[in-house]
Amino acid sequence: MLMQILTVILIHALPAFTLIHGLSLPVGPAFSLIVAAFTIQVPLLVFGRDVAFLKDGAGARLVYRLSMLSFVLILDLFLASLVHLLVRGILTAAGWDVSGSLTVYPVFGAAILHVFWGIVNARRLAVRRVVFDPEDFPASWRGRTLLFFSDTHYGTLNGPGMAEKLVRDVEKLKPDMIISGGDLFDGPRGKYDSTLAVLSRLKAPLGVLAVLGNHDYFYLSRPGSSKDLLRRQRNREVMELGPGTRWATVRSALPWRFLENESMEIDGVVFAGLRPFSRPDEAAALELLSGLDGSEPTVLINHKPNHVEEAAAAGVKLQLSGHTHGGPVFPVNIIMRHLLKGRHHGTSKVGGMVLDVSSGSGISLWYPRTAGRHELVVVEFSAADSRR
Ligand SMILES: [Fe+2]
Repeated sequence: MLMQILTVILIHALPAFTLIHGLSLPVGPAFSLIVAAFTIQVPLLVFGRDVAFLKDGAGARLVYRLSMLSFVLILDLFLASLVHLLVRGILTAAGWDVSGSLTVYPVFGAAILHVFWGIVNARRLAVRRVVFDPEDFPASWRGRTLLFFSDTHYGTLNGPGMAEKLVRDVEKLKPDMIISGGDLFDGPRGKYDSTLAVLSRLKAPLGVLAVLGNHDYFYLSRPGSSKDLLRRQRNREVMELGPGTRWATVRSALPWRFLENESMEIDGVVFAGLRPFSRPDEAAALELLSGLDGSEPTVLINHKPNHVEEAAAAGVKLQLSGHTHGGPVFPVNIIMRHLLKGRHHGTSKVGGMVLDVSSGSGISLWYPRTAGRHELVVVEFSAADSRR
């Protein structure tokens, strides 16, 4: 906790110091202004998401967006301050005595433009194509396409309007099969009935499959007060999808096949889906994984890109995951790339298995996305037989 407080103070103090020192501002008024901004921004940063979790409506959406906007802005201003200090250090070492404003204005200007670009970028929903050689798959799979989307987080911020765009974009791509990779919902609030009505229009000749993500449980678990759900979320309590939960409503509203630690065969290919590994039925997920013997071509859908070595060892040919959002904010994407060994986004090889991790499809109007982009992933099963 102490480390977090010190980090928040440092992230705010450095841009303030850079502004006052670099532009030679009068310390008294500048300091008062910065304290005022700090007083507004820190509660937004700390409680913004909770407000969106507890409340619905335009006010809650505005608070959440301001919270995300201020988080990304202060992060960019902090990085800009580091660049300013670095450039000043180099210039001073070279014997150049130049005004601080010469570097403050460009680096802070670039940081603000970067955040605005992030707002525009967050509205894009790109299409990323992955060519997969279905060696050992039945010949009927050659030339087919599978559409994978993940992490839409429908709730307070993303509603039926965003789902409408997703459905329209997917329909244009005419995939043979659709798979949802989890985190479809988020939080107990939102226009869920109308969102479900829109999503129910998603159709494909070979059907729609889905797995759950960790955030789905905040909506689907037993109804309770929002405060109670928030407490359970904070305490990392297990949320179950037993009788009396919203889960039954979702299952009847969506003509999808949800794979919960189970598998099914579609035209000679096994599709296996896991519940998130943080659930109490982790043993069941691992049991399913170890039960796959690779004797039939297998595609695994696992919300989190974890246990990939076990999946590859079990003979899985293709794993589809989400969860990471690809690291949606700079420089989180770089840290994530390092921590997850490049498996935070895109395609990689794990033994004989192809792993593809989506950066998420949760477009929103104001959430600044300063790294990567939201996407729909189209897996194209190669038409040519590479073994010849
Ligand atoms: Fe997610």
